[in-house]
Amino acid sequence: MHSFFYKLNQPFTSAPRVLEYMAARPTSDWTARGYGFDMMDIPRAIITDSFYSAIHSKFPLIPHLFRVKARFFYKWHVDAKRLAALNILLINEHSHTVFSDCADQHDNKCNLTELVYEKDGVYLLNTQQQHAVMNLGSDRILLGMSFATNPTYADVMSYCAALGL
Ligand SMILES: [Fe+2]
Repeated sequence: MHSFFYKLNQPFTSAPRVLEYMAARPTSDWTARGYGFDMMDIPRAIITDSFYSAIHSKFPLIPHLFRVKARFFYKWHVDAKRLAALNILLINEHSHTVFSDCADQHDNKCNLTELVYEKDGVYLLNTQQQHAVMNLGSDRILLGMSFATNPTYADVMSYCAALGL
């Protein structure tokens, strides 16, 4: 366990349904965000994993698909409106997700920690630590879940650990 991210010990099993849903939607379902990525709403019902319902019962989740376009750098930042997120990387050719201990995006003496997403891995992220995504491949698709009540990373991690997740 550390302060940047926490990998749940259960794999994500709903990826085929999520990708099938995405493929069936018109491109107009993607909404451009100001930060350089696109988002798409997805229905909660297509995620049937037990970890999802366990976490959702305590910290209601709001799932979205995120698309970072090919060869794009999503710069150093902390998330403006959320303290934590639950992420699953669905389509990835060549990208790096990196956390740092920088005080802010102007700090130039930073130690880096990479989050290497494993296939079907579910990760809780501390989005109040500086992080960036360098997408060196084709379009990158992530299933990202926000928490409706905006709990802290530590709160959600403790809850998951207590449940053995
Ligand atoms: Fe972020």
